[in-house]
Formats: sequence, structure tokens, C-alpha cells
Amino acid sequence: MNLAVKVGDLQLKNPVMPASGCFSFGKEVAAFYDLSVLGAIVVKATTLEERQGNKTPRLAETAAGMLNAIGLQNPGVKRVVETELPPLRKFGIPIIVNVAGNAMEDYVQVVERLNESPDVSAIELNISCPNVKCGGIQFGTDPEMAASMVRAVKRASRTPVIVKLSPNVTSISEMALAVEEAGADAISLINTLIGMKIDIARRAPLLANRQGGLSGPAIKPIAVRMVYEVTSHVKIPVIGIGGITTGEDVVEFLLAGAQAIQVGTANFTDPFACKRIIEELQAYCEEAGVKDINTLIGAANPDAKGRFL
Ligand SMILES: Cc1cc2nc3c(=O)[nH]c(=O)nc-3n(C[C@H](O)[C@H](O)[C@H](O)COP(=O)(O)O)c2cc1C
Repeated sequence: MNLAVKVGDLQLKNPVMPASGCFSFGKEVAAFYDLSVLGAIVVKATTLEERQGNKTPRLAETAAGMLNAIGLQNPGVKRVVETELPPLRKFGIPIIVNVAGNAMEDYVQVVERLNESPDVSAIELNISCPNVKCGGIQFGTDPEMAASMVRAVKRASRTPVIVKLSPNVTSISEMALAVEEAGADAISLINTLIGMKIDIARRAPLLANRQGGLSGPAIKPIAVRMVYEVTSHVKIPVIGIGGITTGEDVVEFLLAGAQAIQVGTANFTDPFACKRIIEELQAYCEEAGVKDINTLIGAANPDAKGRFL
């Protein structure tokens, strides 16, 4: 049985990778299992300078999900290149670095620094973070700004550029078409939806940042719809993200048209989530008589079906 998929030039042994920010730089989860079972690894958002993130509380549980307002805490690109990425090399899987910044020039500088690292297989351009004052989401909600960001980063990057889209827009297809036209190699979606929780005891917003990003099973139907819609419009590969917790969830995203998927919040409740989901996917394929996982991609979406076969 073949579980291997391609996302542009990236060859993945299976379609499952952890989502950015939900796996840190892999060190903690590597204590639980051998990360070489993963299709790829996507690391935490990396910015030019070290960031401490937002004030606490910055996490809250919700029904079927959670809210976060971490604010892109990370050690900065220099330390990521020198300290965080080299230990991942031994797993022999593609390493995708999620890139964020305040201004276009920051993104370009991070990407230039990442070009010097032999460990980076692709960039995931984070133009969709709802939790920082500037940078992030304003690039991801304006098609023209998103397109000029993609053009600048494409010019600077030696590796493929995956653009991560925000669901906090009126038309996700318009955003997807804009970044495709600007030269994106692939699209990943979705990032979190903007949400809020009020602490009724304090009669005040629970998160210090007031708002946060909603993730987990609560957002899965929205993510599936957006993957279905986007894969009906663009020709580049799409990586589906949002509420994936089981192998069957992965099948759903593939049928909608996703070429691969990322698992986010599930890693917080089950550190083995990605490994378990790969095993469940394999069991599903065996039971359903699926010999090649690529035959599932877009099978429920007549507009996406067969694009990559
Ligand atoms: C605590 C936390 C931190 C996150 N940090 C990032 C990040 O640094 N960069 C990014 O692009 N997305 C980040 N995300 C969004 C996830 O990568 C993912 O797109 C989102 O959570 C939806 O997937 P899920 O429902 O499987 O969690 C973060 C999500 C959570 C919950």
C-alpha cells in the first residue's frame, strides 16, 4: 500500500505532519516517539528577533477546541538555524519552517537567513497569525498585500514557498488565487478563527490579549469547506489543517482535495497524535482496500479530482 504523496517538489512518505506552533521544534515530542515516521515536520513560527509572545493567560479551553494568543513566541531565526534545526536532521524527513514578521522586509530577511541552513526543505509563509499587533493577519486578509509578500519571499527563497492562509476573510478562494498567481508553490489552510471567551467571575475577557485564535475539532467543518473550495479553484497543491484528530479526519480532507494535512491542537491532548493518526490512516486504507492513497485525493470533489494523478 502506498501512503506517499507529493506536495510540489516535496516528497512525503505519508501525508501527515504536525502544524506550526503545536509541536514546537520537535524536541519534546521526540522523547515520546521517533519523528522519522512523520511525513514532514513543521516548526514554530520563526521571526527575525527572539519574541517572548503575549502576556498570560494566553490559552483557554473551549467546547471542542481551544483559544490561543501565544503571539509568536520563538527564539529568533539565528538560534533556530544554529540550535533548533540541526537535531531534526537525523529524522530524514522534510523540515518546513513557518516564517512570520512585522513588515515585508522582516519576512525577506528571515528567509535569506534560512537559505544558509542545509536543514530547511520549504518555507511556510505565515501571513495569517491573528495574535500579533502588526504583521501576520493584515497580510493575509488583503489579496494584493498577500501577493506582493509572496512575490518578495519567492524572489528571496531557495526552497519552495507554502503560503498559509487565514480563514478570517470573506472569500478564501480570492486569497488563494492571489497567492497562486504571485508564485506560491503550495497553500496550507486554515489558521485559527478569531474568537473570544469571557471570564464570568471577573466579568472580563479571559485572555490577556482579549481575543485569540480558535482551533481544534470545532473548526474542522469550516476547514473542510475551505479546502474543498480552494482546491476547486487553484492548480497548486493544498495542505489541509483544522481539527484533525483521527485517521478518518485525514481521509475527509484528502477526499475534499487536500494533498497532505497538518495536525495541530490534537498534539496537546495526545502527544502521540501524529503517529497514531498515521497508523489509523494505514488501517483505514487496508480495510477499505485503498492501494494508493493518492486515489483518495479530490475523490469527493469533482473540480479537484485527478489534478495530480
Ligand atoms: C498554541 C498554538 C500555537 C500556534 N502557533 C502557530 C504558529 O506559530 N504559526 C502558524 O502558522 N500557526 C500557528 N498555529 C495554528 C496551527 O498551526 C493550526 O493552523 C490551527 O491550530 C488549526 O489546526 P488545529 O485545529 O489542528 O489545531 C497555532 C495554534 C495553536 C493552537
